[in-house]
Formats: sequence, structure tokens, C-alpha cells
Amino acid sequence: MAKQPEDLRSFRWFGPDSLRGFGHRSRLKQLGYRNEDFTGRPVIAIINTWSEISPCHLHLRERAESVKRGVWQAGGFPVEIPAFAVTEMYMKPSPMLYRNLLAMDTEEALRSLPIDGAVLMGGCDKTTPGLLMGAISMDLPAIYLPAGPMLRGNWNGQPLGSGTDSLKFWTERCAGNITAQDWSDIEDGIARSPGFCMTMGTASTMTALAEALGMTLPGASSIPAADSNHIRMAMNCGEQIVGMVWADRKPSDILSLHSFENAITVDMAIGGSTNAIIHLIAIAGRCGLKLDLPAFHDISRRVPVLADIRPSGRFLMEDFFYAGGLRALMNEIRDLLHPDCPTVNGKTLGENLAAVRINNPEVIRARANPLFETGGTTILYGNLAPDGAVIKTSAADPKLLRHAGPAVVFRNFSDMDARINRADLDVTPDSVLVLQNAGPLGGPGMPEWGMLPLPKKLIDLGVRDVVRISDARMSGTAYGTCVLHVSPESWIGGPLALVEDGDAISLDAENGRLELQVSETELARRRARWVKPAPRYERGYMALYAERVTQAHRGCDFDFLDRKTEMPEPEIH
Ligand code: FES
Repeated sequence: MAKQPEDLRSFRWFGPDSLRGFGHRSRLKQLGYRNEDFTGRPVIAIINTWSEISPCHLHLRERAESVKRGVWQAGGFPVEIPAFAVTEMYMKPSPMLYRNLLAMDTEEALRSLPIDGAVLMGGCDKTTPGLLMGAISMDLPAIYLPAGPMLRGNWNGQPLGSGTDSLKFWTERCAGNITAQDWSDIEDGIARSPGFCMTMGTASTMTALAEALGMTLPGASSIPAADSNHIRMAMNCGEQIVGMVWADRKPSDILSLHSFENAITVDMAIGGSTNAIIHLIAIAGRCGLKLDLPAFHDISRRVPVLADIRPSGRFLMEDFFYAGGLRALMNEIRDLLHPDCPTVNGKTLGENLAAVRINNPEVIRARANPLFETGGTTILYGNLAPDGAVIKTSAADPKLLRHAGPAVVFRNFSDMDARINRADLDVTPDSVLVLQNAGPLGGPGMPEWGMLPLPKKLIDLGVRDVVRISDARMSGTAYGTCVLHVSPESWIGGPLALVEDGDAISLDAENGRLELQVSETELARRRARWVKPAPRYERGYMALYAERVTQAHRGCDFDFLDRKTEMPEPEIH
């Protein structure tokens, strides 16, 4: 039987003929609403990560108005609620520290307020997993509204990609190949509209995975922020969520191990950001599902990379949209997906792929002509990473994917920053650059330092890639032969902490191995000498983070949040 108005969660606040019910209703009237505006209507929270310091979400206040239009027209009652705007560009030392805080903010806002369903508005890197994790834990009907990528950057008619081209042209500037004026012109042209980074960085990856999980409307993740389709999609989200409340369609009805396998498959086919691995593990944890690193490895082996998008490929997200977007890509790998998984609109993923096609096979490759034969991500194990490490093979120099060389070790970011460009740095093109103390606790927050800069000495020799190893993350817009997320991290005494200058390290991406070629006797001697660092934080959120965050292979969620347990509804007295 369909849900009745008295069954709405918000009815507990607004329905009773009591002193409390009177208070709740009278304060809506203070806001200017009439009885008929809210009585018997689902209350829809529009959780908005808009902020004046979040350029990726510049347009989300306007979009919230479009969502409201859809909610009103479908018979709901919209309320816009600000959420912690985790913004990638400005939050230091790392916005990753705050993903879990956004998740808690989202979950507790939904729990404590008279909300029946939620539209989640985000897109800048950590906002997608943060919003999803919170909404999944609360398990009210929820739909994800991706902020959309910005338009292509432009420099003298040449398309510029966020992150990827900044890094590329910075290297060229360091090499003296472009002028200060060129660099300034690139700064003016690289970000020229609302929306998130338009390379296949973490934002484009995670919004695509939200769609693959079934948590967005079909096709929503590929629409550029500045396109009028985006406004209409926002309105459709508002309309859809009201129906989802009446149908009681919750994240727990949509998400399953199969939908996460779909997300991993899509992650591989788009050459997605390595950050997605950590986030998907954390999101699955909120569903009570255990994803582990070997699942990514196995799926990577059977899925080709079809999206020719930077940093792995040539094009940008605007091109991807015109080429047919994520639905066209998913249709091309339909046989590798579980098409029967449900989605927010009540149809299956497979049904949502009907009548889509690839408009430009250069941007979205056909199965017969992939960008790479197998997935863009490889999981590595070995004595240097007993709990695993990650490498984005699609963004690496293929010649370095099987490599052995001597370590050049940096104890932390400051040490690297101070020495990386010194003329006396003992480094050659065969060296393996190692950065320690950049993990979940060491960074803290696993900053995106994993694409260690190339030493000036090597740039001057014309070298553009070397093997780099750290317990940090890497921006999804970055590239290079970078081994990331080494777990356990060096800050807690993982083997990475024991590496010394000159140690031989071997990387074999094909066979998924990362080995420190030092005898066990010598490693035991170094382990005995290792001193645990003193805690950095004694108060506040950072102390909570340091005490409860899990390691990279477990998704860096807080250990008291990464499970599915029943939480009681708040009492209303
Ligand atoms: Fe927001 Fe890149 S800075 S997505």
C-alpha cells in the first residue's frame, strides 16, 4: 500500500495536536508558509554545499531554486539546508580530513530535522562521497545532484584541462619552455565557468560513480554545469525525490554489492581517479558491505578504458557530454555490468541505458578500439605494502611499469620541498622517489602529494616521469608513474617508514608487486630503531580524526561510522 501523509516522518513534527506540534507549525508560519503549503506534503531537504569559497559550486544556489520548483510542482515542501562546503582548492592541509565531517553533518541534519527525503547537491571532490556516506547512513530516500563539470579551459584557442594542464605547463615553465606571460594567460583561461574540474579527476569520477551506483538521474553526471540541461536536471531531481518518498525508495533499496561492482567497472572504463578506491570502500562500508582492494584489481583486469579523457587521454568532460556521456559509455560495456540494479528513478540501470549511442568514437571509444586494453588501475602488494597500494597505470609511462631502481627518500613534504631541486640531490632517471609520512595520519589526511614533483636536475635532462612511491593520494587530474596509498602508512610504522636512501625497490605493475629488496634481518634492525611520532593534536575535530580514522585500504572512514547499525529516531518531547 502506498504511503499515507500520516506515515511521513515529518508528520511526527507537524501532525500532532499538541503543544510541540503547535510550536513546529507556528514556526513554519513565521517563515511565511500556510497550512496547505506543508500539510501532508513530503518535506524535502536540499542539502547544499554551496559556499562563496567553493568555485566548483558557484551555481548551486541557483540550482537549489530549480530543485525547489520541481519539489513544489510534485507536491512536496522544499527546505534548503547548507552543509559543510568541503572545497578542494582551499582547504588545508587536506580536504580529505573533512570528508567524514561532511558525512556526519549530512547524516545528523537529516536525522535531527523533520525531513522525509533529500536532494544532495555537491560535486567538488570530497563532497560526493561525504554527502552519499551521510545520506546512506541515515537511509532516507535520497537523490544525488552532481554539480557538473566546468567548460573546457582555453589558452589561445588551445583547450586546457584542470590540474592536468597546470601540472604540465608548470613543468614546462620550470624547464624555461614557456614565458611568465604565457603562464599568466593560462591562469586566466583555465577555469572560466561554474562547475568542477573538467578532466577525469576525482570530481568527474565520483559523480560518474554516483550515477553508476544508481543514485543520480540517468545521464545527470555528464552534464556541464553551465548547460541549460543542468537546470532542467535539477528540476527533475526535485520532482523525482517527492515520488521516491511516497514509494519509500531508500539507498538501502538501491545499493548492493552488484551496484558497487558496477561502480568499480565504470571507474575502470573511464580511467577514473585513484581516490575513488578509498571513497567507494568507505561508501560501501556505510551500506554494511565489505569492498576490498582485490575486487578493484580483478575488475580492472577485465574492463578496458574507453573514455579518452585527460589525464589518461586527450579530451575533456565537455567533449564527453557531447559524445553521449556516461550512459553511452555504460551501454558500450553493458555486458560487464549488472543491468538489473535499481536506480533512483525506479527503473533499472539497464532500462536507463535504452536508446543511447556514442556520438563521437574518438572521445568514447568502441570496445574494439579501447584507449587501454585493461582498466586504468592496478593494486600492488608486496613487503613494502602488505595491505596494498595503488597505481593508475593508464596515466603512467608504460616503460616504467616494470622497473627497479635505488630509493631517494624524503622524510616528509617539507624535506622534499627543501631538497627536490638541489643540484646535489643524488638522483638519476632510474631512481625511485619515496615520500614518507604523507598518509591518513602522517599528512594528515593523505594530501594529494603523491605526484612528487620531478627534480629540476631530471627536468633539465628532458626526463618527464620517474617512479614515485608514497602513502599519499594523488589528484585525479595528475599523472605519472606514482604508487599511492601505501598501507599501512609510514606514520604508524608501516614498511615505507623503513626505506633508506639507496635501497633497491622493484615495481611490477603487470604482476601487482611492490618489493623493497632489503633483507628481513636488516628490516628487523630498522624496525627496532623506529620511533613512533608523538600525537599532533590534543583537542577538537583533528584529535577525533587522529584517534578514529582507518587506514587507506579500509576507506579512511571513522571506525565508529563504517558499519550499518540501527540508529533510533529522535524523541520529540
Ligand atoms: Fe573542485 Fe577540482 S577543485 S573539483
